[in-house]
Amino acid sequence: MRPRSHTCGELRPEHVGQTVTLAGWVNNYRDHGGVVFIDLRDRDGITQIVFHPENQAAHDLADTLRNEDVIWVQGEVLERGVNPDTGESLTNPKMKTGAIEVEAKELEVLAKSDTPPFTPQDASKVKEETRLRYRYIDLRGDLLQENMRVRHQVTKIIRDYHDEHGFLEIETPYLCRSTPEGARDFLVPSRVQSGKFYALPQSPQLYKQVLMMSGMEKYVQIVRCFRDEDPRADRVAEFTQVDLEMSFVNPDDVMNCCEGLIRRIWKEVLGLDVPPIERMSYADAMNRFGSDRPDLRFGLELVDVSDIVKETEFKVFTGAIAEGGIVKAIRVPGGATLTRKQTDGYAEWVKQFGAGGLPVTKIEDGKFATGVAKFIEPVTAPLIERLGAEDGDLICFGVSAKPDIVHRVLGELRIKIAHDLELIQPGQWKWLWVVDFPLIEWNEDEKRWDSLHHPFTAPRDEDVELLENDPGKALSKAYDLVLNGSELGGGSIRIHRSDVQQKVFNLLGIDEEEARAKFGFLLDALRFGAPPHGGLAFGLDRILMHLCDTTNIRDVIAFPKTQMGGDLMVEAPSPVDDMQLKELNLRVQTHHQKPPSE
Ligand code: AMO
Repeated sequence: MRPRSHTCGELRPEHVGQTVTLAGWVNNYRDHGGVVFIDLRDRDGITQIVFHPENQAAHDLADTLRNEDVIWVQGEVLERGVNPDTGESLTNPKMKTGAIEVEAKELEVLAKSDTPPFTPQDASKVKEETRLRYRYIDLRGDLLQENMRVRHQVTKIIRDYHDEHGFLEIETPYLCRSTPEGARDFLVPSRVQSGKFYALPQSPQLYKQVLMMSGMEKYVQIVRCFRDEDPRADRVAEFTQVDLEMSFVNPDDVMNCCEGLIRRIWKEVLGLDVPPIERMSYADAMNRFGSDRPDLRFGLELVDVSDIVKETEFKVFTGAIAEGGIVKAIRVPGGATLTRKQTDGYAEWVKQFGAGGLPVTKIEDGKFATGVAKFIEPVTAPLIERLGAEDGDLICFGVSAKPDIVHRVLGELRIKIAHDLELIQPGQWKWLWVVDFPLIEWNEDEKRWDSLHHPFTAPRDEDVELLENDPGKALSKAYDLVLNGSELGGGSIRIHRSDVQQKVFNLLGIDEEEARAKFGFLLDALRFGAPPHGGLAFGLDRILMHLCDTTNIRDVIAFPKTQMGGDLMVEAPSPVDDMQLKELNLRVQTHHQKPPSE
C-alpha cells in the first residue's frame, strides 16, 4: 500500500496547490456531466475528490466506484471556487474540508465492496438487528465513530486521573469463583478439573478487597464484568466498570475522589462544570421520590397524605391505612389535560408494580372534579393545601397496605408522566449522592435478610450494635452516585474485621460452614491484618451514555450483545463440537434447534 500524506479531515485552503495522497472509503459518488465526484471518508472526515475526463485512466476507473469501495488517490488540492453559472460559492461550510477539493490524478482501488446491506450514513434507518450483524459497517458511521472516540478519551482521562492520585492499575482474574453481586453467574467448565466450574466475575469486589489487604493502598481497573441478568436499556450482560478501592479512608475520601474524576471527565469531554454534588439519604429518596436513584430534573414529588385521607369514608384509602399501609399523592401540574383514556392507561400500567389501581382526580375551580373526587370531597381544603395544588392539576394517589409498593408505583409513575408530558427540560444535569442506605432489607418471599449492596459493606460504627437487636434499622457506609435518575456508580466502606463480617454473614443466613466454603480466603485475609478500606465502581458504559446523549447502552459499546445476550456478528452463543463437550465431560440434554427470537 502506498503511503497517504493526509487524512480525509485534514485539508484546508492553506494546502491548495499541494499534491496529496489520501485513502479511505467511498462515502458517495456522483456523476455531473461527465465529471465524477467522490466523497472519500476515513476516520477523520470526508474530502471531495474530483475526477475530470481529461485524466482518462483515473476517471474511467472512478466511474466504476460504488459505496464502501476502499481506494487510494493522488491529486492536487484546489480551492472549491464558484459555480460558473450562478456565481455562488461552492464552499460547503458544513464540512471541515468544505473549502477545498482534490483533483485526482491517480486512483487505485484497494478493495471493492459488495453492495452493503446499508450505508454507514443510513444506519439509523435500519433495524438494530441488521446493524449488529454488520457491526463493522455500523461502526464506520458518524455516531459510533464519535462514541468510540469519546470512550477512548474517557478511559484515558480515567487512567491519567488515577495515576495522578497514586492509584495502581492492577488486573484481576476473569476465571474465578462466583461473586456475590446478586445476579446469575456465567459459568466456564474446567477441562483439567472435570466437573468443576469457574464463574466469570460479576465484579472484582473480593479481589480488590484482597488487594487492599495486600498493601496496594489504591487500586483502579477498567474491567469487564459479567452478569447473567435480563438486559434493559441501561443494562447488559457484559459491561465495563471503573472499579476502584482505597485503604485508610472514610466515605468522604472515596466520594471526593470519585467526584473529582467526574468533574474532570465532564469538563474535558463536554466543557461543563459539575458543581459540588448534593447528598440525600436513602430514606428521603424513597419517601420523596419513591426510588433510590431519584431523577431530580422535575418535581412530581411524593407527598404523604395518609393522615388527611384516613378521615374520609373512602374504603380504598382507609382500608389500606388500617392494614399498616400508606397513601401518597403526586401533583401533576397541568395534568388535567390528560384524558380519561390516558389516566385509565396509567391505572393499568402501574399494576405491573403491584398497584391495585390508580385513584386520580383533577382540580377545577378549587375543587376536586373527577375520578375519586366525591370520596375525598370532605378533605378538599387540607389536601389541596398539603399538595399545593392548583386548578388544572391532576392528582394521582398511590395506595397500598405495603408502603414499598406505594413508593415503587409512584416512583415509576412520576418518571413516566414526566416523559409523557415532556416535563424534563433538556440539557439538565442533576447529580446526587444517595447515602445512609440500610445495611440489609427483609426479603418477604424468602423470609430472610438480604444485603442492600453486598455482604462486605460496613455498617455505620454507631449501628454495629443494632446488628444484634434491630438489624433492619442499621445503616451502612454505602453511597451511590446518581445522574438524572440513573445509577452511575455505587460503593461503600467495607468491613475490615472478621468478627463483624461473621456477624453480617450470620444475619444474612450464611452460616460459618457456608461462609468458609464461599469466602474462606477473605475471612483468612481479614485475620492477617486488614486495613480499613472502601471503594466504588462506576458503570463506564452508563457514564458514556450520558456523555454521548443516548438512551441505548449498545450505542457506546463496540460489539454489544442483544437483549437475548447474543453477538449477532459472530453468532455467539453457538453449539459446540461433541469433541469439546467430551473433553469437558459435559453432555447437553436439550438442544435448541433455533435460537430464541431476538
Ligand atoms: P454495582 O453492582 O452497583 O456495584 O455495580 C456498579 C455499577 O456498575 C454499573 N452496572 C451495570 N452497567 C451496565 N450493565 C449492567 N448489567 C450493570 N450492572 C451494574 C452501574 C453500577 O452503579 N462491586 C460493587 C462496587 C463496589 O462496592 O465497589 C458493584 O459491582 O453503573
